[in-house]
Amino acid sequence: MLVSMRQLLDEAAQGGYGVGAFNVNNMEQIQAIMEAARETRSPAIVQASRGARSYAQDLYLYHLMLAATELYPEIPLVLHLDHGNSVETCKSAIDLGFTSVMMDGSLMPDGKTPSSFEYNVGATRKVVEMAHARGVTVEGEIGVLGGIEDGHGAGLDGLSHVTDPEQAAEFVAQTGVDALAIAIGTSHGAYKFAKKPTGEVLKMDRLIEIHQRLPKTHLVMHGSSSVPKELQDIINQYGGKLRPTFGVPVEEIQLGIKNGVRKVNVDTDNRLAITGAIRKVFIETPEKFDPRDYLKPAREAMKKVVAERMTQFGQAGHAGDYQPIPIEEMAKRYAAGK
Ligand code: G3H
Ligand code: 13P
Ligand code: ZN
Repeated sequence: MLVSMRQLLDEAAQGGYGVGAFNVNNMEQIQAIMEAARETRSPAIVQASRGARSYAQDLYLYHLMLAATELYPEIPLVLHLDHGNSVETCKSAIDLGFTSVMMDGSLMPDGKTPSSFEYNVGATRKVVEMAHARGVTVEGEIGVLGGIEDGHGAGLDGLSHVTDPEQAAEFVAQTGVDALAIAIGTSHGAYKFAKKPTGEVLKMDRLIEIHQRLPKTHLVMHGSSSVPKELQDIINQYGGKLRPTFGVPVEEIQLGIKNGVRKVNVDTDNRLAITGAIRKVFIETPEKFDPRDYLKPAREAMKKVVAERMTQFGQAGHAGDYQPIPIEEMAKRYAAGK
């Protein structure tokens, strides 16, 4: 059964752990996450961006997720829309069967232009009304993340629109979101920091302030790939051309988890793992041409990264802690103001 993200994050808050949210575009990525979840006994959040939905087609994605619920009945599993750009995009995901959506009203529907606070509140509140009536969770975003990834993001550096704690509190009060993505200097993609980040560029103190102001709100860290050197090296060793770069150290994410972060978004690390594994096969055995010869190691490499993050974020071992609540029941609870 697909479950609501609200339930997973409430449980995570109670247990004091974080939950990784991993992006998918195809069957192998879904399989990698599910195998990692089984191995580590973790609840799981699988997320699809607009790009993923158009690449894979909604119905393929949704039915792959249904297959995952049948094959892994012991894993509480959330299907989440990553960076929904409009009320309509969120509605189409809910209609399809997503159990959680992100309304990213920090940007205009073009996914590039930073929006006004009023626009963000208006669009997010509409999504909250529509989603909660159907038991679906809503993540909002206040402040603007750095970077740009396949068309999503303002192309700013990570520090241009760091989240203001007062504005965050106002946003949560006015919208009723279940989870709040904040901007603290991270950005999407591989090129986040030129050296290991210090407090100058990765504003963990700001995150702590926001948590103190909003102790009951589930915080979300986007752009949370750690971009490990080992994964960069494999790509470059096998003919890739990545420039030296630094991601978000796992210990900083763990500090975030101690301070209200419940959802941690990771995509780039998995992309790096997959690409490195495929390059290795191509270079070492150029005579091969059966896609399974490189997709299998790619899937295995992603599974390894996901399992490692699940353990580091603390969700490992928690899959069997609770009975999943059907989203129809969640709708009743929202209606009753619980
Ligand atoms: O938000 C960024 C995620 O890495 C998804 O990226 O929009 O290229 O699918 P995407
Ligand atoms: P990374 O690019 O750091 O993996 O971030 C992914 C993300 O935030 C998806 O919403
Ligand atoms: Zn993101």
